[in-house]
Amino acid sequence: MKVLRFEDLVRDGQAQGQRVFIRADLNVPQDDAGNITEDTRIRASVPCIAMALQGGAAVMVTSHLGRPTEGSFLAQDSLAPVAKRLGELLGREVKLVSNWVDGVAVQPGEVVLLENCRVNKGEKKNNEDLAKKMAALCDIFVHDAFGTAHRAEASTYGIAQFAKIACAGPLLAAEIDAISKALANPKRPLVAIVAGSKVSTKLTILQSLAKNVDGLIVGGGIANTFMLAAGLKIGKSLAEPDLLGEATAVIAAMKARGAEVPIPEDVVTAKAFAADAPATVKAATDVADDDLILDIGPKTAAKLAAQLKAAGTIVWNGPVGVFEFDAFAKGTEAIARAIAESDAFSIAGGGDTLAAIAKYGIEQDVGYISTGGGAFLEVLEGKTLPAFEILSRRAA
Ligand code: 3PG
Repeated sequence: MKVLRFEDLVRDGQAQGQRVFIRADLNVPQDDAGNITEDTRIRASVPCIAMALQGGAAVMVTSHLGRPTEGSFLAQDSLAPVAKRLGELLGREVKLVSNWVDGVAVQPGEVVLLENCRVNKGEKKNNEDLAKKMAALCDIFVHDAFGTAHRAEASTYGIAQFAKIACAGPLLAAEIDAISKALANPKRPLVAIVAGSKVSTKLTILQSLAKNVDGLIVGGGIANTFMLAAGLKIGKSLAEPDLLGEATAVIAAMKARGAEVPIPEDVVTAKAFAADAPATVKAATDVADDDLILDIGPKTAAKLAAQLKAAGTIVWNGPVGVFEFDAFAKGTEAIARAIAESDAFSIAGGGDTLAAIAKYGIEQDVGYISTGGGAFLEVLEGKTLPAFEILSRRAA
């Protein structure tokens, strides 16, 4: 997909003296006192801002934080903690500007952070007047918010329609590049891991990937439904029996292409969902009526690890067991370490997946870690995200 790239504009000197409006995704988790508990998205947004400043632009940055009510600003909605952290990372003060829609005072070489864009009336519904006002604030609009790339809002979509120039920032561009490398033009075999509690929330992802991948590893509650579809008993384990038909269809679609959905041959079970519940390894054919399957077993983990080590490309979304409980974490750890050791290009995304990557300290060994939650999932569903649709239209 062809989009204008901000780094090309900067390299050609086109940002010099220009007003640049960057839509970042600085939506980071905070504790009850408002302290930022995880700042990956802020760190990931720094290169674009630094690039704009080095290019001689007057820089405005905005983001949403949470899901505030439009038109009513509460203290908890403020980007103030983000401004502080951004200032530390950039090594300069970052002024926070409120009520900015009708005009922003900023000079070339300066950066200001525009208060939570989701408190502006009309933001969510992509109101045209609001989008036009935002577009009028700048000469160049830079979309660098991959985490929000699946939303068509005034600060992500409308502004891109009306700004003089609309382009992708380096983070958005890196995400497109990594996703294309993994899904559009993968080195094969391409193996995807899709895990999570419910088939229903990831059914479209499974159906979409079943048309493309060589191996589709399912995990968690999703695997339980697939085990049921394969005729296995799963005791009291979480599953969605009403989706057996869909699971069977995914297995059949993969088989018809000579590809496979590996069904666990052994599992780790417990009688209760608790960190201290005794864990039992058993064959997948031996699951008792009162068992809960909480992880894949060692034979399955070894088989999947071998498959991942031999892969050309790996897409990872979701832990394969209850990895928060140590007794049921071995499957996810084996998968994580296999991905880390594999020569395959790997791309990972989703909150739980990022937590597993952090737990096993393999950040440096994953090819690309996406900053997107919902956006990453929609890409896996095969959707063209609004951000890419509008930016490619503007580049045409
Ligand atoms: C996210 O946290 O996934 C993004 O910031 C998007 O947030 P949203 O789901 O509130 O649009």
